[in-house]
Amino acid sequence: MIYKHTQSLDTKKDIIIPCKKGNLKRLAEFTSIKNLDFEGDLSTYQLIYGDAGNRIYLLGLGEEKDAIKIEDAFRKLAFETKKHWKKNIQVDAQSLSEDAIKQAVIGLELSNYEIGQFKSEKKKQAELVVNFISKNDIENQLKEGKYTGETTNQIKALVDAPANYKTPEFLGEWATKSAKTYGYKCTVLHQNELKKQGFDAVIAVGQGSVNPPVVIVTEYITKPNAKIDIGLVGKGITFDTGGLSIKPSTNLHYMKSDMGGAAVVLGVVELVAKLKLDVNIVGIVASAENAVDKNSYRPGDVINSYSGKTIEIIDTDAEGRLVLADGLSYLIKEFQPEKIIDIATLTGSVVRTLAFSAAGMFTNNTEMAKTMSDIGFKTNERVWQLPLFEDFEADLHSDIADLRNFSGKPIAGAINAAKFLEAFTESHKNWMHLDIAGVSFGDSPYSKMKSASGFGVQLITSYVKTLN
Ligand code: BES
Ligand code: ZN
Ligand code: ZN
Repeated sequence: MIYKHTQSLDTKKDIIIPCKKGNLKRLAEFTSIKNLDFEGDLSTYQLIYGDAGNRIYLLGLGEEKDAIKIEDAFRKLAFETKKHWKKNIQVDAQSLSEDAIKQAVIGLELSNYEIGQFKSEKKKQAELVVNFISKNDIENQLKEGKYTGETTNQIKALVDAPANYKTPEFLGEWATKSAKTYGYKCTVLHQNELKKQGFDAVIAVGQGSVNPPVVIVTEYITKPNAKIDIGLVGKGITFDTGGLSIKPSTNLHYMKSDMGGAAVVLGVVELVAKLKLDVNIVGIVASAENAVDKNSYRPGDVINSYSGKTIEIIDTDAEGRLVLADGLSYLIKEFQPEKIIDIATLTGSVVRTLAFSAAGMFTNNTEMAKTMSDIGFKTNERVWQLPLFEDFEADLHSDIADLRNFSGKPIAGAINAAKFLEAFTESHKNWMHLDIAGVSFGDSPYSKMKSASGFGVQLITSYVKTLN
């Protein structure tokens, strides 16, 4: 879609009129009909026809507390009705705040997401022009909304893609192409390089797959001689069978989404570059396929890691923390970033704890926690803090190696995973771990199967903005 800013409204053309609940006064400008069966509840809409036969969509934005869900309202309207729109449609944006305009554009853009990419018959999407009517300067909101929606759609497409297409090398190619297009640096470390440089944990996780592991290093640097403001690390398991500690087959097909964290990292770096934010950011993706094979790593194995710490493998299904450990060590050694956030579909435990309502957030930095929590409520990508108490350190103890990858207990699994990661952060003061296993992929009103949510792109990009 193309988003344009126009000063004045054409009452003879199609238009969307956003309405807050109980505030339908403006409608008198568009219709003489009184007593409309429409109250402005969030994400409800009603179509009426103007005198010129034009379509007038009344779109409910609900109450003040619903302001964070304006994106959903626009998305639903566009998804369900845009087949009737003719090339151009207007949005009456006069009463919308700057943030609401951005959300409206994101919602409209998200309605273009097509999950059926692999169907042989392709759907044709006509290019629509959306004119936002406002007396204010809204160019930035339109641009930001468009870039955010566009990138989120691509991230969703990556997460929803099947693992036979989406190999670790494929993620590397995706990042390389994005970097070329949007002007940042991307280096893909392939298997031989990983072996040479000592990414032993990444190698161990990937050694059971015909698709070799990679580590993707993206760098968007606007201030060449300054420190790195933030480093991101994403879990990029392109398929998680569990390895020899194999998972049950029910819903196993959804384990193609175990690279949701990696997708967020790739999306955020791309979006930051598109928005030309004035920050130095590094994004690392540690990617492997956790497969079952004669070469697979085993429960009981002791492996090495990039940090030099040895790890006893208790469960090969606790693979995400292994690839992240190497990603974190590499990030810290090579870039010494001011702040570090790792993001991963890490544990079933966080799903049992927070369901689909929030990501698990772990950090010892109260300021980062507060900022991230606030942003989460604003972007409707919520995070909820869970503890990193010292009590949980004993669970990492191994008799034969420096630490083990799983406590072996069916309790506090998300915390156990976070404590494991913490051991690879060199006690960095500004580190945060986000477990997005419950929120990255799930039920959606737009598909029958579970699908990617795009959770994290807006959250982390908004966080990065605070570092400007
Ligand atoms: N990829 C899974 C976590 C997951 C579960 C993501 C559900 C999305 C939805 C992860 O690698 C895993 O299998 N974790 C195990 C760890 C356990 C064996 C210590 C888990 O949480 O059960
Ligand atoms: Zn696993
Ligand atoms: Zn996994």
